Amino acid sequence: MEWDNRVFSWNLITRRFGREVYYQEVIDSTNRWMRAHLDSLRLSGAVVVAGHQTMGKGRHDRIWNDIPGSSLLCSVYLRLVDNTLPVGYLTTLPAIALARVLRKHDQLADVSLKWPNDVLIAGRKVAGILAEIVDCGRNVATIVGLGVNVQAVPRMSAEGSTVPTSVFDSTTWRPQRELLLANVLTEWELLFDMLLDKEFERIRSAWGEFGPSPGTWMRRVESDTVIEGTFAGLGECGQLLLRDGDGILREIYSGDVSYA
Ligand code: BTN
Repeated sequence: MEWDNRVFSWNLITRRFGREVYYQEVIDSTNRWMRAHLDSLRLSGAVVVAGHQTMGKGRHDRIWNDIPGSSLLCSVYLRLVDNTLPVGYLTTLPAIALARVLRKHDQLADVSLKWPNDVLIAGRKVAGILAEIVDCGRNVATIVGLGVNVQAVPRMSAEGSTVPTSVFDSTTWRPQRELLLANVLTEWELLFDMLLDKEFERIRSAWGEFGPSPGTWMRRVESDTVIEGTFAGLGECGQLLLRDGDGILREIYSGDVSYA
């Protein structure tokens, strides 16, 4: 379950992402670890990787489980000097990055993205992303956690309707975690640069390559509120646009979505 830093660094083609990397065999959560070590991090783009998490955090206070050594579990520390950038994109970017990497290595894999940031293969969830804002002053500081089921599917907590899968179970690619992470960070940095350059349209169109087709029927549930309608794209800030039964365009910023 060791971390092979040579494989990681040989395959990393970035300027900042992953240039400061920490490996922890077992920790509670990489997001928590990063929050506790913020003062000692040197670079925006610093990464912590864990072999196993004892208290992995998922969205909506769910638990994110893993089988030791068989998932990619990491968090990236990102600082935005410009606090006017829409932070909603921060979770979109790693989802697109992973989707691109998976498709590159298995062109036949049916990779898709489910808003806001689930990565699916053949409709099953292979990865989840959890962003936490740790400072929203003039420099916005965030921790973006990414969990990918690589070799096996862990027991899932109550996850709504999405069935889980793993890279090994649903593609022909058999990457080491180090290679997968290096590939993802390489794509992620390119996309992050687009965000810094305010190229939102480019990001939306990259997402659209894996997102649902316009007109797909969707249902968004949050607490007791259900909105149904057809997919009408992503808005300026990455929010989901749904056209409801009355033809009204609804902007969705949170919640879980399922496709019909
Ligand atoms: C989701 O619910 O879909 C998001 C799951 C995010 C899990 C990752 S694993 C690495 C990082 N550390 C955590 O505690 N959570 C994220």
